[in-house]
Amino acid sequence: MGDVLACLRGWHPALALAEVKALLPDSKATSTGVDRWWRFEGEQASHRQDVLEMSSGLQCFLIDGVVASTEGLLQSGWLEQMKAYLHAHPVSGTVAVRAWKQGGKIPNWSLSSLAGQLGGMLGDMGRSIDLNDPDHVLALIGDGPTASLACGWMEGDGQAAFSSGQRRAGERPFFKPVSLDPRLARLAVNLASGPKNRGPVVDPMTGTGGFLIEASLSGRACIGLDIHSEMVQGASMNLAWAHDDAVPSNSSVIRGDATRLEDLLPEAWVGKVAGFVLDPPYGRNSHGSIEAEQLLEAAFISARKVACIDAGFVLILPVHPMTPHPMASLPLDLDINLLNGSWTDLLAMVERCGWTPLSVHAERVHRSLSRLILHARCAPQD
Ligand SMILES: C[S@@+](CC[C@H](N)C(=O)[O-])C[C@H]1O[C@@H](n2cnc3c(N)ncnc32)[C@H](O)[C@@H]1O
Repeated sequence: MGDVLACLRGWHPALALAEVKALLPDSKATSTGVDRWWRFEGEQASHRQDVLEMSSGLQCFLIDGVVASTEGLLQSGWLEQMKAYLHAHPVSGTVAVRAWKQGGKIPNWSLSSLAGQLGGMLGDMGRSIDLNDPDHVLALIGDGPTASLACGWMEGDGQAAFSSGQRRAGERPFFKPVSLDPRLARLAVNLASGPKNRGPVVDPMTGTGGFLIEASLSGRACIGLDIHSEMVQGASMNLAWAHDDAVPSNSSVIRGDATRLEDLLPEAWVGKVAGFVLDPPYGRNSHGSIEAEQLLEAAFISARKVACIDAGFVLILPVHPMTPHPMASLPLDLDINLLNGSWTDLLAMVERCGWTPLSVHAERVHRSLSRLILHARCAPQD
């Protein structure tokens, strides 16, 4: 149980980090100085495999990965360092080296030449190379902005994007402009709910079922509710489509009001729900039966009644366009310009309902719209 280097995808490293921390709550995360590379301590290999399969923002883990700044570093010195790493971390079976860059090139350092030299080193150590189907991959990543290298035996798919290709919202049988992209939906489910075995997930206003599809495909028990029967039918159709008509028995969509979760969820779920993901109605697509702010407050109160002790809540909210902040969360006391209502009132409401705001991130949707991703945790009851 040594360290692993978690390598994060580029679309929003700060959100990806929050997601991985939520999935590995018992592991200490330490910065390496590169936004997309974080060290996590002491996780079991089997648990790491789960995280790799479930996560949206995690690219791969590098076992005891070596991070080096190329400033003032000689290539021969770096190769010596990697030789020592390979001796200290022997593997059996066939091997290959894969190299990729992020955020541009590192001047005067050629990743393909370094990868070739690593391959030669592995050959000299008696390893047989199989470029097509190796048992082990040695990953070499070059980070342009910090001119740093990360290298180590890889777990996961590496450079590949989060595989949501066929599940893109526009490909589903039931599509509405409100449909969330699978990449964000998966991340929000993980951020809210933490490790898979913590408990079920609830999407109180499921719409076309974006969160539900991702929760269910990652093996979580989940229920989505919607007040409109058209949405309930549509989300059920999408869920069946995502599972090739074999929807697991622990995933379902029901018609009902997000403000009455305590009456609508199975009795066995009351006090056990680990995560809530909520993308409430707004603007022209709003079909809410009561004022948007009252509806949100009532949904938070209801969620608190069925939440487990350390449940998480992720709320997605539209905001006027703001500079994207992919490298860090925003300070909670920032003056944020919501499309509806005031940010300070919203935070006060969340706290009043028994939830503690933990972090907020911003993401660009298009030129005239951004969105906020607010993460809160169930506050202890008095
Ligand atoms: C913005 S949409 C959700 C979009 C969803 N995340 C998706 O990927 O399709 C909000 C949904 O909330 C539903 N809704 C509004 N009021 C509700 C209530 N009181 N209880 C449950 N659902 C409600 C609306 O019918 C709408 O489908």
